Amino acid sequence: MPGFADDLYAGQVALVTGGATGIGLGVATAFAAHGAAVALTSRSEEHLREGAEQIRAAVPGAVVSTVACDVRDADRVTAMAAEVLGRHGQIDVLINNAAGNFPVAAEQMSPNQFATVVGIDLHGTFLVTRAVVGSMLAAGRGVVGSVVISDPQRGFPGFAHAGAAKAGIMSLTASWAREWGPRGVRTVAVGPGPVPTEGVTRNMLGYEGADWREAWRGVADGLPIPRVGTPDDVANALLFLCSDLAAWITGITVNVDGGLSLPRLGQQ
Ligand code: COA
Repeated sequence: MPGFADDLYAGQVALVTGGATGIGLGVATAFAAHGAAVALTSRSEEHLREGAEQIRAAVPGAVVSTVACDVRDADRVTAMAAEVLGRHGQIDVLINNAAGNFPVAAEQMSPNQFATVVGIDLHGTFLVTRAVVGSMLAAGRGVVGSVVISDPQRGFPGFAHAGAAKAGIMSLTASWAREWGPRGVRTVAVGPGPVPTEGVTRNMLGYEGADWREAWRGVADGLPIPRVGTPDDVANALLFLCSDLAAWITGITVNVDGGLSLPRLGQQ
């Protein structure tokens, strides 16, 4: 399997929210494997302990720190950013990955359900970025990478709250790019298609069976690249986009979705 140079992120620090499980863990592991010191946040101390252990097992010698933080809590977010900066001295890459989700029919969605998901996904991304970007602007370099979903403008039935939040993050990504680009900070996003993780299977598909992979049978049928994605697919896109190899790329969202977001061809 071809790969990026092991030292692509040598001397850099990557902070990954929701970095202890699922796609976030895959992304944090990939940054560690390419030389970055990584800081993980999660609400759960147990997830943080397990996630850090998994990264250390996968990447011998990895520098990993953990901070418990709910991205909805502005004071805690400010303290978390200060703690990471205190421990590592800098944050070169911020990955906004933390998200919360559950399916609700749009007409039945309560104000609190909407506010909860938008509060985690969109407002949380705003709070964490706000807390971190000052140090990047002072350093004159840094990258904010956010994990959204593939093409939320198409709509996200059953998940109108999350679709609105992810579309909002894409707009923030473009606004930030224009404001911070001249000051050395780039902002990008990736839009995953179906990536089976235990969290998504439980929270989005509501699957409680013994083998959660069963819930994904048939999901990739009809995709131009007919397989489901992996955390590594998402991580590899972020490794490129957040590196100096992508130094002239900012403000965009790259879909990592096997072609899911391509417009359908008309009937022949
Ligand atoms: N299904 C439907 N509604 C839910 C829900 C679920 N699984 N979880 C929370 N809600 C609703 C609550 O009913 C409440 O709305 P209401 O006041 O109108 O009844 C509102 O959301 C807030 O509930 P609360 O219990 O205060 O939420 P919370 O902040 O404790 O937890 C999450 C919300 C999303 C953080 C929680 O479901 C969670 O931890 N999920 C796992 C993480 C996750 O989703 N990861 C993303 C994988 S894609």
